[in-house]
Amino acid sequence: ENSLLGLKELSAGDIVSILDRAAYWEASFPKQTDTLHGKFIANMFFENSTRTRFSFEMAQKRLGAQVMNFAAAASSVQKGESVYDTVRTLESTGVDAGVIRLKPIGLLAEIAQKIKMPLINAGDGNNEHPTQALLDLYTMRKHFGEIRGLTVSIIGDINHSRVARSNLWALTKLGAKVQFCAPETMKAPDLAGLAPYVSIDEAIRADVVMMLRVQLERHEQGLMTTAEEYRANYGLTVERMHAMAKHAIIMHPAPINRDVEIDDELVEHEKSKIFEQMSNGVPIRMAVVERALS
Ligand code: CP
Repeated sequence: ENSLLGLKELSAGDIVSILDRAAYWEASFPKQTDTLHGKFIANMFFENSTRTRFSFEMAQKRLGAQVMNFAAAASSVQKGESVYDTVRTLESTGVDAGVIRLKPIGLLAEIAQKIKMPLINAGDGNNEHPTQALLDLYTMRKHFGEIRGLTVSIIGDINHSRVARSNLWALTKLGAKVQFCAPETMKAPDLAGLAPYVSIDEAIRADVVMMLRVQLERHEQGLMTTAEEYRANYGLTVERMHAMAKHAIIMHPAPINRDVEIDDELVEHEKSKIFEQMSNGVPIRMAVVERALS
């Protein structure tokens, strides 16, 4: 099984071997390879993306694969064709593997059971975003040398976050301590008991302070708080940054709501790994795409 649907089901050994292989690919930059010469990969994004889609394409091209980008807005999805029929159609044309991003919860697992080509999850609803968490772990390992023993605070909209879930599964398998910080309305009932909720003052004293985007598009009844209130109560402000440990780092999967969950001037602060996370997405996705087709 070469699909990558999530990190919950992956062993610590599998995760470490992906991180190691990504380090191998990063060390080979800027050289390109023909490792996947003759392989066809479809990027199927049924939900918008900038960095995941673009870095998958960069990774696939660096591996020498033929890349096909499917745009839902210009497809027969607009005529009512289902996601399953769309994926099955692309598979029928001879595509060797698919990268897929979907909004409906549970749909990816259902489709993966009926599709023979390997599928890589590029984010499904609030369930998992495995390559994001892998690039997050890769970034932490590069900075600290190892994951074991780190305390990682994940702060913000935990309930709507596939990034929080994939990080929780992977970080705990690799021996890190995960803690959450969120307002009541953003706590995740399905994760109760798996990581403690701490105050914002405690959360910012961790080794890794990972801020999450407030996902306005997923809040059906609105935030029930203003951006200013959110920033004051849960945002990483400059003042809070000064209370962080000297060695600690700031992370955020992006896109970012500047001056809501993180102050504008912290995005490219020396403590921030935000753009390095995006760079690290390329070698991680090379390792994952290579694994899918090996
Ligand atoms: N972090 C992330 O998944 O960003 P995109 O939605 O732009 O791909």
